[in-house]
Amino acid sequence: MIFMKKRILTGDRPTGPLHLGHYVGSVLNRVKLQHEYDTFIIIADVQALTTNFEHPEKLKADVYNVALDNLACGIDPNISTIFIQSMIPEIAELTIYYSMFVSINLLSHNPTIKTEAKQYGFEHRKTYGFLGYPVSQAADITFCRANLVPVGSDQLPHIELTRRIVRRFNKLYEPVLVEPEALISNVPRLMGLDGNAKMSKSLGNCIYLSDSPKAVAESISKAITDPARIHATDPGHPDICNIFSYQKVFNPKFVVELKENCTKGTIGCVTCKKTLTVIINELLEPIRTRRAELEKDMKTVDDIIASGTKRAKIEAEKTMELVRKAIKIDYSFQ
Ligand code: TRP
Repeated sequence: MIFMKKRILTGDRPTGPLHLGHYVGSVLNRVKLQHEYDTFIIIADVQALTTNFEHPEKLKADVYNVALDNLACGIDPNISTIFIQSMIPEIAELTIYYSMFVSINLLSHNPTIKTEAKQYGFEHRKTYGFLGYPVSQAADITFCRANLVPVGSDQLPHIELTRRIVRRFNKLYEPVLVEPEALISNVPRLMGLDGNAKMSKSLGNCIYLSDSPKAVAESISKAITDPARIHATDPGHPDICNIFSYQKVFNPKFVVELKENCTKGTIGCVTCKKTLTVIINELLEPIRTRRAELEKDMKTVDDIIASGTKRAKIEAEKTMELVRKAIKIDYSFQ
């Protein structure tokens, strides 16, 4: 028997370029694991419409942004499959079948849906598509029979729902679906520059992977620190400082020293922010360089997306044959 690698499916909504939250929450894991797992990366353009249905004209540019960011971070198109959600109609079909047995009650208790509804200001006017997008995400994951889903911790309720859907489907019909597991990174939730909520494009509190060194410096210089600290010599409280939470993630070698100096008041916020800026710019420099190279050759990027989507489509067709047979929608009339 041929040894088959286990599969990963993960991905992003094309609502803008990717930011540091995406990087530490999921992208870094997918880049590391792509050698070990057969990796599928979905550019979830239909899911992006849940909050952008009034502005579909922005989708295409952001599909490119997300593809470029993944490639610039080190996703190797020779071993990983990057594809577009809307170009796999089987995902929409699977979503409909799942939606027959997922209760609205269950969906409306999803904590991520609640948080996002608040964030986007549509708590009292949730659309059917928004409330149901976790069902569609279950279809994203299961159409290619993924075993592992590297994501940030906010996505856990969706993976839990996917697991429930798989168990229910397999029990109701035939055991044809694979139950996936979530893989949460060790930095599951990066706070935004405002320190109030997770880093998120819609909150405007991000450092983007494609930001220039100057933009990174400006964003960090404006970020919130310990609000009780007014003068550089005041003793600081690193445990409540947002910038210190970034130092822990991006500058782990120096955290002990920084913490001590901050607490004693021997390092000011400006200096601390400057060290962080240098570290983040060092991290982003090779990513920026690769992105700039790729941007010069968009034909290659198109080819990568086209061939990834072709491969995903083959997997979708295989799964749908089993699914349709299991739910008895496999008649033919000739
Ligand atoms: N919901 C994810 C996000 O907002 C994007 C996504 C869509 C996804 N489909 C997925 C993530 C499937 C993992 C698996 O970032």
